[in-house]
Amino acid sequence: MSHVLAAVAWPYANGPRHIGHVSGFGVPSDVFSRYMRMAGHDVLMISGTDEHGTPIQVQADSEGLKPRELADRYNRVIVEDLHGLGLSYDLFTRTTTGNHYQVVQELFETLHRNGYIVAKTTLGAISPSTGRTLPDRYIEGTCPICGYDAARGDQCDNCGNQLDPVQLLDPRSKINGETPNFVETEHFFLDLPAFAEALGKWLDTRDGWRPNVLRFSRNLLDDLQPRAITRDLEWGVPIPLDGWRERGDKRIYVWFDAVIGYLSASIEWARRSGDPDAWRRWWTADAQGKDARAYYFMGKDNIVFHSVIWPSLLLGYSGEGDHGGDSGRLGRLNLPTEVVSSEFLTMEGRKFSSSRQVVIYVRDFLARYDADALRYFIAVAGPESQDTDFTWAEFRRRNNDELVNDWGNLVNRSISMAAKNFGAIPPVDPAGLTAADEALLATSRAAFGTVGALIERHRQKQAIGEAMRVVAEANRYLSDQAPWKLKGEADKPRMGTVLHVALQVVTDANTLLTPFLPHSAQKIHELLGGTGVHAPMPRIVEVDDLDAGPAYPILTGDYRDGARWESTPVEVGRPLAAPKPVFRKLDESIVDEELARLTG
Ligand code: MF3
Ligand code: ZN
Repeated sequence: MSHVLAAVAWPYANGPRHIGHVSGFGVPSDVFSRYMRMAGHDVLMISGTDEHGTPIQVQADSEGLKPRELADRYNRVIVEDLHGLGLSYDLFTRTTTGNHYQVVQELFETLHRNGYIVAKTTLGAISPSTGRTLPDRYIEGTCPICGYDAARGDQCDNCGNQLDPVQLLDPRSKINGETPNFVETEHFFLDLPAFAEALGKWLDTRDGWRPNVLRFSRNLLDDLQPRAITRDLEWGVPIPLDGWRERGDKRIYVWFDAVIGYLSASIEWARRSGDPDAWRRWWTADAQGKDARAYYFMGKDNIVFHSVIWPSLLLGYSGEGDHGGDSGRLGRLNLPTEVVSSEFLTMEGRKFSSSRQVVIYVRDFLARYDADALRYFIAVAGPESQDTDFTWAEFRRRNNDELVNDWGNLVNRSISMAAKNFGAIPPVDPAGLTAADEALLATSRAAFGTVGALIERHRQKQAIGEAMRVVAEANRYLSDQAPWKLKGEADKPRMGTVLHVALQVVTDANTLLTPFLPHSAQKIHELLGGTGVHAPMPRIVEVDDLDAGPAYPILTGDYRDGARWESTPVEVGRPLAAPKPVFRKLDESIVDEELARLTG
């Protein structure tokens, strides 16, 4: 038993999330957390909406809202979507809470005191029409290195070099084409080179990471530069230093505050639990936190923030970079055990794009299809370790051929035959089990070890494949044994045995599939005559801010009561009724309907 932190990337609250987003960070982290809880670990799964910075400011401007109003709107939409998917967060909060501001400022101050944050004068781009700073990403121009004419202010996508906006030849705003003014401005920088050695040592001790993620992270260490962690922006966490705190025009950079969300959300969860120190069990290297492991889930565009920036903040806060120092009042904090990064999902061969309507939002998906149908697709065909494509035809095929035909039918025919012929779970007849019965039972029992180990190593595709192999073998067993033919008086005890074995394997397979398909697992548990909570679900709760800010909705839940990761013997004589179908077959017409929606 250990303490397992499932730290899930924070979606920007600048619009509704599409299925590409949730296939990278959402569903995989939930599968992992559900499995780890079933296996007896003490899991803390946390995240929230990312509500500061340019992404929010720019979208708020375009919708004619204040940033806070925009964030309020989409925080709620995202909370509802993640709830609809059944993602079992212990706490899904937001970055605009009083608690988050305090924790961010505590880290900033301590890093500054330890000498890892230093002020520098730089040239910043200002939009002449608004007087506001133009973020690097919103400036375009000609690359001074390769001559590419659409290089961005932060980097050139043609030659891959990191750039500074002032280096661009012929710089212009991507928002309205105007030429920015460059003016001197003071900012705080994180001294990343001071962590190169400590980061290198830490990465050397990492094993089990996806090789490309580890390689990518190691390469980043070769060229660490000090990085600006404040912005000329009105929207964000204030800089907690004298002379800066009251300034309306400078804020902490959104990525600096967002990664700290993992810590602040853990603290918020503890404060809400009534034991304000409970978060330490997942975070600190002292006695309580010895057995703690931390897994971070995200898409590949987030790797640098989780394998370099966030570990640097943790090291600096703990006084463990080149400049030494003392840890802040929260104590020395644990680095990530593993950065679990997924690749990208595309949509019918194209990049997701809200503006071009190459998109399906979670909300629209859930209005027409079941959450588990999407969860199944993501688990078997998602972008776990390479970019993959979502197509409606393939979604329908997997749903109909695999979920409905293979799994749904196995559940349905086992339960309905037993209900019709015995009205209950039948016993094994005195003649005992045959070799075929024993073999099937052994297969499903063994799958607990295999599937569990695969999920623990973030090989969810293979894991669900192994679970579905148990389903396939059970279907083969039923075809071979043909219990429907064992109707005569003399054969009926054998029919009972076959159905007993089938129901045991259905029960096992249902447990194996529970982390992936929690909604249907609960239903199947009930069809098998079970009562109580099998797969716990999150709930939305409206809460008051702990530090006098406005109220907001959170996702939370009590996940202690669910099923265990083990084969539970079926109870002979437990009454069974004729089952209702658990999965829905999708008509061929949905493919064309959805494709028509895509192009608008
Ligand atoms: N909002 C970011 C994105 O959507 C992810 C933030 S993850 C965290 O790419 F590290 F900041 F928490
Ligand atoms: Zn270039």
